[in-house]
Amino acid sequence: MKKILVTGGCGYIGAHTLVDLIQHGFDVISVDNNSRSNPEILEGVEKITGKRVQNYCVDLCNLAATKQIFTAHPDLVGVIHFAAYKAVGESVEKPLMYFENNLISLLNILQCCADYKVVNFVFSSSCTVYGNPEQIPVTEESPLKPAESPYGLTKQMSESIIQQSAQATQLKTTLLRYFNPVGAHPSNEIGEMPLGRPANLVPAITQTAIGKLPQMQVFGNDYPTRDGSCLRDYIHVSDIAHAHTLALDYLLSEKNTAPCEIFNLGSGNGYTVLEVIKTFEKVSGQTLNYTIADRRAGDVIAIYANLQKAKEVLGWDPVYTLEDMMRTAWNWEQKLHQS
Ligand code: WQD
Repeated sequence: MKKILVTGGCGYIGAHTLVDLIQHGFDVISVDNNSRSNPEILEGVEKITGKRVQNYCVDLCNLAATKQIFTAHPDLVGVIHFAAYKAVGESVEKPLMYFENNLISLLNILQCCADYKVVNFVFSSSCTVYGNPEQIPVTEESPLKPAESPYGLTKQMSESIIQQSAQATQLKTTLLRYFNPVGAHPSNEIGEMPLGRPANLVPAITQTAIGKLPQMQVFGNDYPTRDGSCLRDYIHVSDIAHAHTLALDYLLSEKNTAPCEIFNLGSGNGYTVLEVIKTFEKVSGQTLNYTIADRRAGDVIAIYANLQKAKEVLGWDPVYTLEDMMRTAWNWEQKLHQS
């Protein structure tokens, strides 16, 4: 079996990707220092797949420790790099922490790929790199705008570092630009486990509905959209996970036409915050307690993906609907609440 190193394997998207990789015949190991994740999620991965994934609790900013993982696994054929801090608001308060963590860890993992000749590299990027787009839906050729946050800037810088490295070495890479990953695995064995008060919409909805939060806020209803609230492209985390398996297969079968290729991972459907809330209420039977609050600094007004390239080149075809996303997120929140 082909062995893949997944950095951030104990994270939300990382764990769902471990499941998809295992179910498609890959052998996987994880490296995750659990600074923002819970290793217990690997128990859920094991319940789904029957495989206990080994996690190295190592800080990727420690090059020597990272190298030891590659030395221990000379049969690695690829890396999927998720590990990074990703809270937009926190990045505004602590930019240097974000630059150090997200960029040093990337440079170290790229150094190891070069030293140990691991040439297939899949990177977790974000639609944040587009900023506030002039035209929607956005394609991979849409112009990048100045990042709205240090988090977004680390994603833009990381993409440039990877592109330049791939041009100069044997590295073959895909940059996967996620739109808004939401929901939980249909088995309800793994899902999102936000630390502290959730910044993202869907965990804020489900935690309010379960009573963990007294009320949630809709950040603005005076935007130029169909109902005044911001518009986003929500995509199920299991669809996102499967795109990583397809991207790896694409690189391993040497179908790539350039050293670095970019793919949008979105559903191609835009929904407003209020529409997401209405869908959640319909699916859950709950009436959500929310208020309309001021706009949130840094928020993009409206963005959604043109996903044709991932469809045609990777053969990716997302299957989950917004109702599925709300249903699986709600099931997971109820399970967390029981434990
Ligand atoms: C979505 C919409 C909020 C919470 C960011 C990053 C992106 C990715 C996902 C890491 C916005 C509104 C939210 C709430 C609300 N991060 N909202 N009340 O900002 O689109 O994307 O997180 O991978 O890279 O940019 O996602 O879920 O935070 O917000 O009204 O309590 O929901 O204003 O319009 P966002 P989000």
